[in-house]
Amino acid sequence: TILVLDFGSQTAQLIARRVRDQQVFCQLVRHDLSAARIREINPKGLILSGGPASCYAPGAPQLDPGIFDLGIPILGICYGMQVSCRALGCEVKPGKSREFGHTEMHCDTDNALFKGLPKSFTTWMSHGDRVENLDTQFVVLAKTSDCPNAAIRHREKPIYGLQFHPEVSHTQHGEHLLGNFIRNICGCDGTWKISSFIEQQITEIRERVGKRRVICGLSGGVDSSVTAALLYQSIGSQLTCIFVDNGLLRKGEREQVEYEFSEHFKTDLHVVDAADRFLDALAGVSEPQAKRKAIGKTFIDVFKDEARQIDDAHFLAQGTLYPDVIESGGNPDGPSATIKYHHNVGGLPAELGFELIEPLRMLFKDEVRRMGQELGLPDGLIWRHPFPGPGLAVRCLGEITKARLDTLREADAVFTEELHETGTYRKVQQAFAVLLPLQTVGVMGDARTYEDVIALRSVDTDNFMTADWSKLPYDLLQRVSTKIINSVRGVNRVVYDISSKPPSTIEWE
Ligand code: XMP
Repeated sequence: TILVLDFGSQTAQLIARRVRDQQVFCQLVRHDLSAARIREINPKGLILSGGPASCYAPGAPQLDPGIFDLGIPILGICYGMQVSCRALGCEVKPGKSREFGHTEMHCDTDNALFKGLPKSFTTWMSHGDRVENLDTQFVVLAKTSDCPNAAIRHREKPIYGLQFHPEVSHTQHGEHLLGNFIRNICGCDGTWKISSFIEQQITEIRERVGKRRVICGLSGGVDSSVTAALLYQSIGSQLTCIFVDNGLLRKGEREQVEYEFSEHFKTDLHVVDAADRFLDALAGVSEPQAKRKAIGKTFIDVFKDEARQIDDAHFLAQGTLYPDVIESGGNPDGPSATIKYHHNVGGLPAELGFELIEPLRMLFKDEVRRMGQELGLPDGLIWRHPFPGPGLAVRCLGEITKARLDTLREADAVFTEELHETGTYRKVQQAFAVLLPLQTVGVMGDARTYEDVIALRSVDTDNFMTADWSKLPYDLLQRVSTKIINSVRGVNRVVYDISSKPPSTIEWE
């Protein structure tokens, strides 16, 4: 195991991810985890993440200096390096200039960390502080024109520091460098697999749950399905699933969930038909955050009513992923601002009084998919594009009515079907239709029409935190447009969204 001490960086979880990509188990822990506790866990290495603060600022996250005496190899990245140097008695000061972005770095490759790397390559920097008077304790391994100690090694202990970020894709050879640390310096053998993670989770869930009952909200998507499958493998019929049909689902979604469930699980499924309750709560609401809040609140109410009927329920399992946590600004140590209120993250546990089980909280989407495959879930489900908790409501811009939702649902089904038929569905990461809150003029036969506009959105992305619009073939777009206009009543125009994230988001609301 490698532990990442999280000092609040946006990329802390990404570091863990990069380590797992090299088949070494890696987990995020608090930055101030005590040396005694770390000794008990007995990891093969520690990586200290970056962070938004200056380590000399009042209240800046610190570490237990005892970690330097454990004999465990340590790699400090950016803030992680500065806070270590400071704890070891060096001085950290504001730099003369902030260094940000791509920088050419020159390094000494005659050491375990830079072994096999070129003498100079591009790294990605983002810092304002610098460390001074290092020489008594550290040797410099690399420099850039602005930073005389871009990489350092302690003279006696296995402590390394990098001023740049090896975990981001903008740094060349970052994977090689992290690999050198975890294999050459920490001595990890790289035999961890997603199946080991599943086994570990199953054991933990069994121990934690005992004979008690767990309820799990199913949404039809891969995250909640994988969560349910994992729970089912751990505790079998002690699991009860709840599926809320909020009337905001894609075409055929409810039927598909019912079918897949009966194929894979021999335990209770409660399907709640709550479309009217959601429509009532959304009546007259057009502002996006207000929609999300109304849906989140209704979801809690509906869920609570249903859960109350399961008397012995003690735990609630949720398929929250890492990007959900970060986009809701929910990382307690993190600096990330709330961009959208994600209804599957905020509020539920406290309101419901259940203990939470979130086995996917540290994973990225593609890791969850690999887990789903390992757990034997069908391909159609595993490769289903993500669908937001508030569903079609945030794709039906403006006021929500049953008729408008039906129009959107039909258009979306035409688009999705065409993507499937042309083998394009698996090549893009998320594609859907959006119903705009405006009418435009058209001509059909000899008559003037004044009808709705559908926007198509399709994105290519690794992690949904950044995304590019998909360069879909023109003939595909043309077929989809013609089919929607011909077959979906009340639509006379189709447009294609060519914005990337950032500055746009994937969803329109
Ligand atoms: P954005 O629009 O923020 O979307 O670029 C990033 C990813 O998150 C999904 N998304 C949500 N998922 N509840 C969810 O479970 C939500 O409230 C929510 N809002 C956006 C979105 O579909 C995309 O995959």
